[in-house]
Amino acid sequence: MIALKVCILAALSLSLALAAPPADNNESFDDIGPTESPNAPHCHKLTKSNKYMDTGFWKKFFKHWIPFTSSARVKMQFYLFKRDFPDCGRELFPGDDATLERSGFDARHPTRIIIHGWMSQGKGSLNRDVKSAYLSLTKPKEQLNQDSNEVNVVELPHYEDFNIIVCDWSKISSNVNYFGVADMVEHLGTLLAEFVNHLHMRANLQYDDVYLIGHSLGAQIAGSAGKQIRPYRFNTIYALDPAGPKFREQSDEYRIDASDARYVESIQTSTGLGFEQPVGHATFYPNFGRDQKKCYMYGCSHKRAHDYFAETINSTRGFWGIRCERMSKHNWILLDNDGEFRMGGEPSNPKNGTFYVKTYDKPPYAMGPRERLTEPPAMEPERTTEVYH
Ligand SMILES: *[C@@H]1O[C@H](CO)[C@@H](O)[C@H](O)[C@H]1NC(C)=O
Ligand SMILES: *[C@@H]1O[C@H](CO)[C@@H](O)[C@H](O)[C@H]1NC(C)=O
Ligand SMILES: *[C@@H]1O[C@H](CO)[C@@H](O)[C@H](O)[C@H]1NC(C)=O
Repeated sequence: MIALKVCILAALSLSLALAAPPADNNESFDDIGPTESPNAPHCHKLTKSNKYMDTGFWKKFFKHWIPFTSSARVKMQFYLFKRDFPDCGRELFPGDDATLERSGFDARHPTRIIIHGWMSQGKGSLNRDVKSAYLSLTKPKEQLNQDSNEVNVVELPHYEDFNIIVCDWSKISSNVNYFGVADMVEHLGTLLAEFVNHLHMRANLQYDDVYLIGHSLGAQIAGSAGKQIRPYRFNTIYALDPAGPKFREQSDEYRIDASDARYVESIQTSTGLGFEQPVGHATFYPNFGRDQKKCYMYGCSHKRAHDYFAETINSTRGFWGIRCERMSKHNWILLDNDGEFRMGGEPSNPKNGTFYVKTYDKPPYAMGPRERLTEPPAMEPERTTEVYH
């Protein structure tokens, strides 16, 4: 009996020890320490590497492999980037007015909130790419649209500045138990909605100036925040290959849908981790939404949605889709005569329906609107039935 108790105690303390590592051992090792002035905000960098998984991820992976046991753990952190500090995120704390005031957040500028997915991390290159693409639109107007000898199809808009906020929930997302993490989506949506409410109350942020950009489970968190922020509405949610497992079977109430923002656009690039069915007002299916070109690693097609999206923001060619009807897995009707519709981009341009878009197999992926004409001629002048494997 005693032996059993000892055993249980030992197991308990072991799991506690694993769940709550002793000190916070410089988690943010990407950070460079406080700058010269003691009042200057701490600088949080996003990693430069283009590796599939960033090193910081593994650190968290091992640290948090017994999940969700420490209530004190900060579940979601927010880092602000602007034109004047494009590489040095400043952390914002929900409820902390003093930090917010000093941060440089400015409600006159459009706010874009990026939410990463499962097995991904806040400081990763994915966030960096979207953040940098947005901030590239603040370059002087003359510099913006000189894309070498390319034909400029899209005229890029010039912005004075943005509030780019990277939402880092990697302390949860780095857990291997996908379904355990997926169960936290509503709770994380609450944290995000509360954070935006804080910006609204304290910094006069208008909900209609906010876009959420969520990848994978991050898209589900964005949807959940959209439901919880009612009666207000976010302007736009970009759902980048929204997470499918667990959510496919659920009703709209428990997953991202068109009611979560004034405009919801989804870019679907994989079926294993993503969705087959359309999500939101407009759904784009790059390369038929299953396997992306030259993607051999597990998760590559899923991640590609993010790469495409970053490119849509400042591509002068743009990704152009044609309206399509998905009759079955391998039988799509492409409605060629209905014009071409731009995927993603800044600002968003609302439309309804499902769209097929073709891409190159390496960056820059965008083909622009004309390339498609070099495909084999349509069988019928009006409707093409495209069969693929
Ligand atoms: C974290 O890093 C800072 C600066 O590099 C250092 O001064 C501090 O001692 C470190 N803390 C821990 C717990 O290692
Ligand atoms: C788009 O932004 C990225 C990130 O800043 C940059 O590397 C790329 O050159 C930009 N592309 C164009 C066409 O401006
Ligand atoms: C899309 O459809 C909805 C509902 O049918 C409609 O309210 C909305 O105006 C449409 N949006 C566009 C851009 O066509």
